[in-house]
Amino acid sequence: MKREHMGNAAEEALMQKAAIERMKNFLAGRHPSYYITTLGCQMNAHDSEKLAGILEEMGFVLSEQEEAADLVVYNTCCVRENAELKVYGRLGYLKSYKKKNPNMKIALCGCMMQEPHVIEKLKKSYRWVDLIFGTHNLYRFAELLESVYETPGQLIDIWDAPGEIVEDLPSIRKTSFKASVNIMFGCNNFCTYCIVPYVRGRERSREPEEIIKEIQCLAASGVKEIQLLGQNVNSYGKTLQNPISFAQLLYKVSEVEGIERIRFMTSHPKDLSPELIDAMKNCPKVCPHFHLPLQSGSDRLLKEMNRHYDKAKYLDIVRRLREAVPEMAITTDIIVGFPGETREDFLETVDVVRKAGFDNAFTFIYSKREGTPAARMENQVDPEEAKTNFEELLVVLKEVMDQRNERLVGKTLQVLVEDVNNHDASMLTGRSEGNYLVHFKGGSELIGQTVPVKIDEQLTYYLVGTL
Ligand code: SAH
Ligand code: SF4
Ligand code: F3S
Repeated sequence: MKREHMGNAAEEALMQKAAIERMKNFLAGRHPSYYITTLGCQMNAHDSEKLAGILEEMGFVLSEQEEAADLVVYNTCCVRENAELKVYGRLGYLKSYKKKNPNMKIALCGCMMQEPHVIEKLKKSYRWVDLIFGTHNLYRFAELLESVYETPGQLIDIWDAPGEIVEDLPSIRKTSFKASVNIMFGCNNFCTYCIVPYVRGRERSREPEEIIKEIQCLAASGVKEIQLLGQNVNSYGKTLQNPISFAQLLYKVSEVEGIERIRFMTSHPKDLSPELIDAMKNCPKVCPHFHLPLQSGSDRLLKEMNRHYDKAKYLDIVRRLREAVPEMAITTDIIVGFPGETREDFLETVDVVRKAGFDNAFTFIYSKREGTPAARMENQVDPEEAKTNFEELLVVLKEVMDQRNERLVGKTLQVLVEDVNNHDASMLTGRSEGNYLVHFKGGSELIGQTVPVKIDEQLTYYLVGTL
């Protein structure tokens, strides 16, 4: 049965471990299979690693195919409408598979489940979904799943606010040499277009000791690259009992032996400190890559978006970053078609793209999110106009990226080899320190190693080189 009581973090962790043990006994000898689909950002990707960790401890094995799995999980995202439509589409498709295999269980979790209108719809029209839970009680997955196996019918458990941060639950990392680590959860910024603060709750930081302990364990198991995750890492640690800054955390992480590379996501331009820029300069392990979401280059729209910086401030940060670390790769996020965006506003964005000289960018057409202030703005942009601007932006970005990439041709970059190339098995794929995707010829024995690669050619979205 669903448990309402919330214990302290340590008690909660013990309860989950006990539930995992009970499930292990219950499933002994059966080896049921699972398949997890993850939508959305790295936070969600890492949450799915936690779900997989719990499932494998229970005795579940990874299924090659979703349709054949005994347990299908969708870890959802609601940042844009597309991500939501995908889930409904897949659920319809899975219904027929569940008819063929009545033992199949379907679970939904993640950000989309924190939206009340989604839950209403699932209750009404998707009765074949067995388990629905949200972002705040993800750590209770073991207990919830146990209830699903005990009691047939749809189980819905959504919390509207987070509880304590529960540490020490299992997690399965997708690669053995690269790992994500949460440093904080939630967001307090309330950018007017964004649903994340509503579905992920208020900002909470993990204790630095817990973070370092986790990274030390990862390093001991062979992990070389750490990605620190938070919606706005600049506010890390401010609300802890013993406050600590993100820059101070970077120095601490740098001291962990065995870790070669440190990355982080995401940093908001509004409160980027000089101390952080110094830390990037002083810590050789911190990669010369900065993801600095721009969203728009128009001062007027930035205000409407509640971003708390303007075009000049943004460009000044870019300048300071490259001054401190000349090889710094700067990437960004841009939204086209925010309510009220005029051609002039859009051209301001294009201007920043050219002046900043981005190394890469994620570009999005504005998507109206129910419950956010921007959704209530009256001057929504005509989708056709947004699309035209969007395509123009892609052309400019390609030009800018080509220009930036040219500087790398002929240079030798240190590449952490990630995998065999999807299209050509004689090629390997890896990432440079600046987070550039690099393809080169080599054998799979190099996977997980850092090797020097001389860049021969740039093809906008990736580089091709020779070992
Ligand atoms: N916390 C991160 C971003 C998380 S969401 C930050 O503030 O930088 C990732 C990106 O999705 C955002 O940077 C934004 O560019 C985009 N995004 C968020 N809400 C959106 C919406 N309603 N429509 C289109 N894109 C959106
Ligand atoms: Fe969304 Fe803004 Fe928070 Fe990023 S900082 S998650 S864009 S509200
Ligand atoms: Fe990430 Fe999407 Fe949630 S971007 S925080 S998974 S809404």
